[in-house]
Amino acid sequence: MKGLFVTLEGPEGAGKSTNREYLAERLRARGLDVVLTREPGGTPLAERIRELLLTPSDEPMAVDTELLLVFAARAQHLAQVIRPALERGAVVLCDRFTDATYAYQGGGRGLPVERIAQLETFVQGDLRPDLTLVFDLPVEVGLARAAARGRLDRFEQEGMRFFESVRRAYLERAQAAPSRYRIIDSGQSLIAVQQDVEALIPDLMERLNG
Ligand SMILES: Nc1ncnc2c1ncn2[C@@H]1O[C@H](COP(=O)(O)OP(=O)(O)OP(=O)(O)O)[C@@H](O)[C@H]1O
Ligand SMILES: [Mg+2]
Repeated sequence: MKGLFVTLEGPEGAGKSTNREYLAERLRARGLDVVLTREPGGTPLAERIRELLLTPSDEPMAVDTELLLVFAARAQHLAQVIRPALERGAVVLCDRFTDATYAYQGGGRGLPVERIAQLETFVQGDLRPDLTLVFDLPVEVGLARAAARGRLDRFEQEGMRFFESVRRAYLERAQAAPSRYRIIDSGQSLIAVQQDVEALIPDLMERLNG
């Protein structure tokens, strides 16, 4: 694959979407082909699966159903968007990817890591992000930011313990493979966060060209 696969991770309200736009603008200013996308979703069919995952419903969703829907959407997204973009040499900036599955379905829901890893290999083969930015902030700050946007989705309705586990899972994954992850303190002002994001660009360019 010629391109560069960058994922943005972190809990609700951490600033993934805001900083994805910012990073895209900085990279496009350098003349790069940048593809912005998100999970779950990123294609019309995968966005329909996203609706199933996020919309609160009277029927409780079994944890395995949730896991399989996440990976079903991912298979579609990889086939339609991510792999073709990487093959033509683009930089793909993806708002959430499989680290979110480890954090939410693994950390949050308590599913075994091995089961997630099996599906990861099944759906992705050996494709992994080249670089993953983890936007980290105290759970209550993120939830307050998300709540300020209005109605809560099926995940945002979870409690503090769930989100503490999500946060911990992200940080543990990042600490276990420091060459692939960058932890960004997104409790800072937006300007300070953007400076940290900007500072990653030389490393990103090197990974793209190297
Ligand atoms: N560093 C920051 N300081 C204060 N507010 C911020 C900061 N970063 C983002 N915000 C604001 O917090 C809200 C959530 O940001 P954003 O939508 O980028 O988060 P997100 O990680 O994409 O959340 P979600 O997971 O729910 O999509 C937005 O209103 C955004 O303007
Ligand atoms: Mg977002």
